[in-house]
Amino acid sequence: MTVETETKPAAANPGANPNAPFYRLGGAPVFEAICNRFYDLMEQDPAYTELRAMHAPDLAPMRESLPKFLAGWAGGPRDWFEANPGRCMMSIHKPFTMSRETAGQWAEAMQRAIADVAPEPADMAKAMGEVLGDMARGMGR
Ligand code: HEM
Repeated sequence: MTVETETKPAAANPGANPNAPFYRLGGAPVFEAICNRFYDLMEQDPAYTELRAMHAPDLAPMRESLPKFLAGWAGGPRDWFEANPGRCMMSIHKPFTMSRETAGQWAEAMQRAIADVAPEPADMAKAMGEVLGDMARGMGR
């Protein structure tokens, strides 16, 4: 999958650090493509049935919010954090029991989504997948 990035996203955001992973990986179109692929995999691949079942029937709100969360997390625009003051990984996920299996499903689906979108630089994209995978696996009990 190729994602066209015609504009330099950091240029449109004064004060942004163009070296932040968000910008270096291609900005919002790339983060949106990764999250859409992630939720497509979750909806379509039976390997993620348990993870899918934890989520609301309509994944549209997550398709909208996860790329915005990851944007801020990766050094880009912080709109999600400004819209959700005080919300963090712990408070978001508190209502859910996350088994090692579902945590592993999250990690695997995200790493597959990043690999499928294949942003450049490839080493940075791979590193982001590894960090997110470690984070997800660390949440499993
Ligand atoms: C153990 C792995 C994980 C599981 C099982 C999991 C599961 C979930 C579920 C069930 C929801 C609620 C979705 C809904 O209501 O439809 C959620 C929300 C969310 N998750 Fe995760 N999650 C995991 C890891 C992560 C990671 C690693 C991140 C980010 C780095 C993340 C970011 C978010 C965000 C930002 C939301 C809420 C967005 C919002 O309400 O605006 N999750 N997660």
